[in-house]
Amino acid sequence: MSLIDAAREVRENAYAPYSHFKVGAAVRGRSGRIYQGCNVENVAYPEGTCAEAGAIAAMVAAGETELTEVAVIADSPAPVPPCGGCRQKLAEFGRHDVAVTLATTDGKVLATTVGALLPGRFEAAHMEQP
Ligand code: THU
Repeated sequence: MSLIDAAREVRENAYAPYSHFKVGAAVRGRSGRIYQGCNVENVAYPEGTCAEAGAIAAMVAAGETELTEVAVIADSPAPVPPCGGCRQKLAEFGRHDVAVTLATTDGKVLATTVGALLPGRFEAAHMEQP
């Protein structure tokens, strides 16, 4: 299954009774395995989690800490960009050049990278003592 098809598949399971905006995400780990995630909302709105966060959590739970490809899909007029928090989460596990495919359910696609999504990212090096 392609990564975008994996994202499309898991989007069906999104729990989005508040926003009614279902999102599916899939990441490929260094092993080649695909991990899927969907958004899971909560009546206490800030407790909801994004699709990307779910896919990353599934990857880490399976014992992998490097992603090599990302896909996100939603039913929106234009491909939905990951939120700021998810950009930082993707950057934690993906190199700058990792391909990110953002897609709509009706076939619009935007190709970008983890690095392009988060220029100037906070990294471990910023915590080094001068
Ligand atoms: N959402 C995601 O899951 N991923 C994104 O990239 C953008 C937004 C979710 C969070 C919330 O459940 C809903 O979409 C509306 O913001």
